[in-house]
Amino acid sequence: MTEASTSVRASSYLADASRPARERHVPVLLSECLDMLAPAIGAPGAVLVDATLGMGGHTEGALERFEDLTVIGIDRDPQAIALASDRLERFGARFRAVHATYDHIDRVIEEQCGPGSRVDGILMDLGVSSLQLDEADRGFAYSKDAPLDMRMDPTTGPSAADLLASASEGEIVRILRTYGEERFAPRIARLIIRRRDEAPITRTGELVDIVRSAIPAPARRSGGNPAKRTFQALRVAVNDELTILERALPRALASLRVGGRLVVEAYQSLEDRIVKDVLRRGATSAAPPGLPIVPDEMAPSLRLLTKGANRADQAEQDHNPRSASVRLRGAELLSEWKDNS
Ligand SMILES: C[S@@+](CC[C@H](N)C(=O)[O-])C[C@H]1O[C@@H](n2cnc3c(N)ncnc32)[C@H](O)[C@@H]1O
Repeated sequence: MTEASTSVRASSYLADASRPARERHVPVLLSECLDMLAPAIGAPGAVLVDATLGMGGHTEGALERFEDLTVIGIDRDPQAIALASDRLERFGARFRAVHATYDHIDRVIEEQCGPGSRVDGILMDLGVSSLQLDEADRGFAYSKDAPLDMRMDPTTGPSAADLLASASEGEIVRILRTYGEERFAPRIARLIIRRRDEAPITRTGELVDIVRSAIPAPARRSGGNPAKRTFQALRVAVNDELTILERALPRALASLRVGGRLVVEAYQSLEDRIVKDVLRRGATSAAPPGLPIVPDEMAPSLRLLTKGANRADQAEQDHNPRSASVRLRGAELLSEWKDNS
């Protein structure tokens, strides 16, 4: 976990330096997120943690709208940290960037705000950014031939190529099934094993070819690029996305002051289910039904701010296609966080 160094300049990473970050990424449901956070982060001296800083779109919106707000932006991607730091430089000390995975949110808050500190709001806009998808060399996109990497933090951990080189056939089947809901997982895994016995699979293009060859012709003709599910599954596995999210949510809730708010945007069902379950548990009383007075320690610690999940309307989807799959959920902390599971 490192604080962003000003010596890391965004421009050194930019493949398309002519386009400013503001144009390269449109934040999803920006006003809805800020409206939901507003009652908690509008007071002087308030602190918001943007746990998925990305290109800083949500953070910029929050800093512009709430003039006394300080934002601590966390991202595991050093490229995002550099770009957002450049973009948000004009806010001076009101913005601080920290390179970390968001399951360290409690430690980040302690280091940035002091031991025992709580924050007023936390925002999580999950998944990959357009920056990561757009930069071919990162290996996230099945539409561009590139090294098969897919690490959100390219400075650490095994890449997708490493994973495919070492995982057993059973493990690959599990990854494709669980994280990609890929019904042809066994066929794809078998072909991966056969091809890697001939030569290591190191390029996204090779993986796309393998998936195409493994899937029966009729299935190839429907449902978009057949490699989409395999790429999603590998990305989730390479970045250990679900385990980190499961670990992060209780720590995020425990880092809020009473009255503080958590807002989460999820783009795929596995993530959204994790968010929904944690928030629902927190909003449910642990008291047996019929108990006339609910003791404080059994009372719900959360109030849900969304009924189900909020979706983007057609106008937002037309303006920003990434918003089509978003599910937005929010909750307010009513009392010290306790997980009523
Ligand atoms: C959808 S983008 C956020 C975009 C941002 N809200 C904006 O408006 O520019 C998600 C970001 O979260 C980061 N991220 C994903 N998982 C993370 C994790 N476990 N810890 C820290 N950052 C993570 C990604 O690197 C990516 O930059």
